[in-house]
Amino acid sequence: MTKFNAAITGIAAYLPEYILTNDELSLMVDTNDEWIMTRIGIKERRILKGEGLGSSFMGAEAVAALLAKTNTRPEEIDLLICATVTPDHAFPATANIISEKTGIKNAFSFDINAACSGFIFALTVAMQFVENGKFKKVIVVGADKMSSITDYTDRATCPLFGDAASAVLLEPTTENLGILDSILYTDGVGFNHLHMKAGGSAKPSTHATVDAREHYIYQEGQAVFKWAVSKMADVSVEMMEKHNLSAVDLAWLVPHQANLRIIDAVANRMGLSKEKVMINIHKYGNTTSATIPLCLWEWENQLHKGDNIILSAFGGGFTWGSVYLKWAYDPK
Ligand code: UT7
Repeated sequence: MTKFNAAITGIAAYLPEYILTNDELSLMVDTNDEWIMTRIGIKERRILKGEGLGSSFMGAEAVAALLAKTNTRPEEIDLLICATVTPDHAFPATANIISEKTGIKNAFSFDINAACSGFIFALTVAMQFVENGKFKKVIVVGADKMSSITDYTDRATCPLFGDAASAVLLEPTTENLGILDSILYTDGVGFNHLHMKAGGSAKPSTHATVDAREHYIYQEGQAVFKWAVSKMADVSVEMMEKHNLSAVDLAWLVPHQANLRIIDAVANRMGLSKEKVMINIHKYGNTTSATIPLCLWEWENQLHKGDNIILSAFGGGFTWGSVYLKWAYDPK
């Protein structure tokens, strides 16, 4: 039987135009550029403005760009998975709305919620359908309008997040390229440290929940920070050891962009120099499901066929994991 790997064969992204700078944030809450740059490493982030525009708007823009760039007709797509924690609506799935907006009619589609690990969780699910030979073209899109759940009166969380979407096309290959392994974990203890208090079935929205600002991100920053550093580093090193990869063998680490100090700690544990780490947190902040594909998109022209790449993420849940892939194409 032919053995297929799932390879990323194209990538596109959408960034909203509006740039929210640290200086503008410091007019909204008691903060400043120096604190945000030192403690987090973010200079600015993009914000989606516009009445009625949600994550599907950005996701559809990214998917449409991906279809155009890869000369793919929407009818050819077999499956579309959207990773998001900011769906347009509780239901239907944002993936369904993106498919509708982009003319994808011969596919089934659904959402995955794994917070900041959403993209690598979705990629891992998507790759199964390609590896088993069932599907030829699968799209994974990470889309999050984090500004819709960010409390811009809370200085502890509002500098962190931004809005964006990015999408990849997965296709089968018989070469030793593409996604070679994935290690994923969850630990529900994370609920206590990072969640949204109301608006779900456990605590539906009421006037009181809105007044109490319970429809925004609740985060215990220090606890999340400690977990993120140790788990992201552990799972990245676990992947390196499993495949006998040393730092020299790796072309790139693509870390989730939550905090520059977390990224540095993970790279250090892996023995990687900074030149091998994709970092764009200063420009976009934490865009949750979009951070990792957004990096791949920005660095696409520097990636070469056969490059060993580790993707690594940690997020609410808690969820975390790493993906090992060999890049499948040279710059076009
Ligand atoms: O994507 C996955 C999920 N999220 C994460 O990975 C985030 C993980 N956590 C973090 O990145 C960090 O914990 C934060 C960036 C959220 C906070 O940084 P920290 O170094 O842990 O700061 P802290 O919460 O311990 O606060 C230190 C001080 C406090 O003042 P006092 O009590 O020492 O006087 C805060 O009130 O900094 C103060 N502070 C601020 N000062 C200026 C908190 N936020 C701000 C702010 N500007 N924006």
